[in-house]
Amino acid sequence: MSPSNTLCVLRLIASPRGAESESLRLSHQVLDGIARQSGGRPLSVTDLDLNTLAHVDGSYARVLAGSADVDPPQPASSLQRSDNLIHQLDRADVLVIATPMHNYGVPSALKAWIDHIVRIRVTFNSTPQGKVGLLRDRPVYGAISSGGLITGDRARQPDFLRPYLKAALATVGLNHPQFFTVEGTAGGDVELAGARARAEEHVMEFFSARSSGQANSDPQSFSVIDGIQSRFR
Ligand SMILES: Cc1cc2nc3c(=O)[nH]c(=O)nc-3n(C[C@H](O)[C@H](O)[C@H](O)COP(=O)(O)O)c2cc1C
Repeated sequence: MSPSNTLCVLRLIASPRGAESESLRLSHQVLDGIARQSGGRPLSVTDLDLNTLAHVDGSYARVLAGSADVDPPQPASSLQRSDNLIHQLDRADVLVIATPMHNYGVPSALKAWIDHIVRIRVTFNSTPQGKVGLLRDRPVYGAISSGGLITGDRARQPDFLRPYLKAALATVGLNHPQFFTVEGTAGGDVELAGARARAEEHVMEFFSARSSGQANSDPQSFSVIDGIQSRFR
C-alpha cells in the first residue's frame, strides 16, 4: 500500500519480445485506463521483467515442503528472492500482468514468479477447508496476447492460461482479476489490426464504465483496502 496519494502499480512483463511485445502494448492501454479511473491520483509504475527471474532452488522447495521457514534466508537464495517479490507485490495498489500465451498456458517466466509468491505460511495458509489467501485483495489486470484465438466460437485451442492464473492469484487472496485479450496475432496484418482494435475497445469500455461509477463497490475500485494478515504487513 502506498503511503501517499500515489497509486502504485506493479506491472509484470512476461513476454521475451521486449518492446515488440503485443501483451506489453495492450498493457500500456490498461495503464491509460487505470490513470483515467484514478481520479487524478498520480501513478507510479514499477516494471518487473520476469525474463530475468531464476527458477526456485532446492532449499526453497525443501522449506515449502517442511513445516517451518528457515530464518534468516540466505542471500541470493530463492527464499530471499521470494521475500523481496512478495514485499514488492504487497506494496502495490494495482497489479498488471502483461503476458503472452505459451503452449496454452502461462510462459515459464510468469510461472517462475508465481512459484516465488505463492508461498505457504506467508501468502496463503492451508486449512481443512482448503487454501486461504493472506494478501489483501486489490485490482489485478491481465493483458494477454495469443497467436490464435482463445475466446469465442472460433477458438480451436484450450485456454489454460486464464483459469490457471485466476486460481493461482486466488490462492494468495487476489480474487478479482480482469482479463483483456489481443487474440490472433499470428493471423497477419489485417487480423492483427482487428485484434488490436477489439482489445482497445474492450479496455476503453471497461474503464469508461468504471470511471462513470458503475461496479465501484468491489476490490477492483482503487480505494485502499487494509487488513493484510501476512508478515509483510
Ligand atoms: C513458446 C511459444 C509458445 C506459444 N504458444 C501459443 C499457444 O499455445 N497458443 C497461441 O495462440 N499462441 C501461442 N504462441 C504465440 C504467442 O502467444 C503470440 O505470438 C503472442 O502474440 C506473443 O505475445 P508477445 O508479443 O506479448 O510475446 C506461442 C509463442 C511462443 C513463443
